[in-house]
Amino acid sequence: MKEIRVELGEHAYPIFIGGGLLDKPEIFKNCIRSKQVLVVTNDTIASLYLERTMRSLGSFTTDKVILPDGEQYKTLDVMNEIITRLLQQRYSRNCCLVALGGGVIGDITGFAAACYQRGVDYIQVPTTVLAQVDSSVGGKTAVNHKLGKNMIGAFHQPRAVITDISTLLTLHDRELQAGLAEVIKYGLIRDRKFFEWLEQNIEKLLHREIQEISYAIEVSCRNKAEVVAIDEKESGMRAILNLGHTFGHAIETGLDYKGWLHGEAVAAGMLMAADLSSRHGWLSTQDLERTRKILTRAKLPVRLPPTLTPARMLELMAVDKKARDGAMHLVLMKQLGEAFVTNQFDPEKLRATLENFSSATESR
Ligand code: NAD
Ligand code: GLY
Repeated sequence: MKEIRVELGEHAYPIFIGGGLLDKPEIFKNCIRSKQVLVVTNDTIASLYLERTMRSLGSFTTDKVILPDGEQYKTLDVMNEIITRLLQQRYSRNCCLVALGGGVIGDITGFAAACYQRGVDYIQVPTTVLAQVDSSVGGKTAVNHKLGKNMIGAFHQPRAVITDISTLLTLHDRELQAGLAEVIKYGLIRDRKFFEWLEQNIEKLLHREIQEISYAIEVSCRNKAEVVAIDEKESGMRAILNLGHTFGHAIETGLDYKGWLHGEAVAAGMLMAADLSSRHGWLSTQDLERTRKILTRAKLPVRLPPTLTPARMLELMAVDKKARDGAMHLVLMKQLGEAFVTNQFDPEKLRATLENFSSATESR
């Protein structure tokens, strides 16, 4: 088992990474300081992993909430089901929530923990690649609004992240690929050596070779932990973790959170960010092509969905948490392994990028 620490002073916490961790009660015992525990999961994950998790939590007073599965359920209404259960069962302020699932469950449970009685403990037990390398670490919690992705939320750090990589064996190929988008992201934004490793090993990750998967999760978590330790609340450099996300969130919102997975939208978004960077002369055409190639090899989409026109994308992109004083800010690239945030981009070049990626007449 590997342990990585997210160094956040009094809010510091461990990320445990290993195979079979769900079946290790001592790990849960060491991470949870409460007696009352509420496990939150969805119907898909419940049938796979809930029983084992509940068994490992045997020494606590434990209840569960099983939510419907899907990004479209990451809403205030659905979060309220968690709050209702906590109140009905008289959970006190020193309870602990356990988020068992992917990023949707992690985000909604984390937000419920941030809100319930002004903040209670929670731990993350991520079961998708995306959640294991990104969403479970760093304390961003949120639900979606019809008008914008993740627009209602809070920063609230978990007490621990327990990552059982053997849960990835039941993940659908498409979900695995979507998670790899966020893995590739770390190479693009700040870790060129890792990007080069990914160029050598991407097929092994697609084939779930355990040693490579484990290494990729560990390097990704180290990158994320380092960035979060420097800038917990995204007042500066943490924003680079959002490479491709302004484009990606616009795609997700434009599709009403259905059809495309988050990681797929981010993949197409990262290539659009690279394209725009290249149009400004900031990123070389070779680095742009290497970006396109790795995303294509990871079987990720590299065009816009047919229903989203460039004009609609621009409209959707304006509703972004990185917008400041009405100006859109984007994460762009200088080279492989170096990203930066700017509002000094040419709007005509942005329009040209969106036109270039428009697939109004073709599907992905
Ligand atoms: P998800 O949570 O919807 O999970 C994907 C699918 O896989 C779901 O159907 C789920 O039930 C299923 N699943 C989960 N684990 C499984 C397993 N082990 N075996 C079989 N099926 C399994 O999607 P996701 O990609 O994990 O997360 C996407 C969400 O994460 C988005 O809402 C995004 O906004 C959020 N996110 C948050 C952050 C953050 O910092 N908080 C970062 C990135 C993404
Ligand atoms: N996923 C972006 C962040 O955690 O900041």
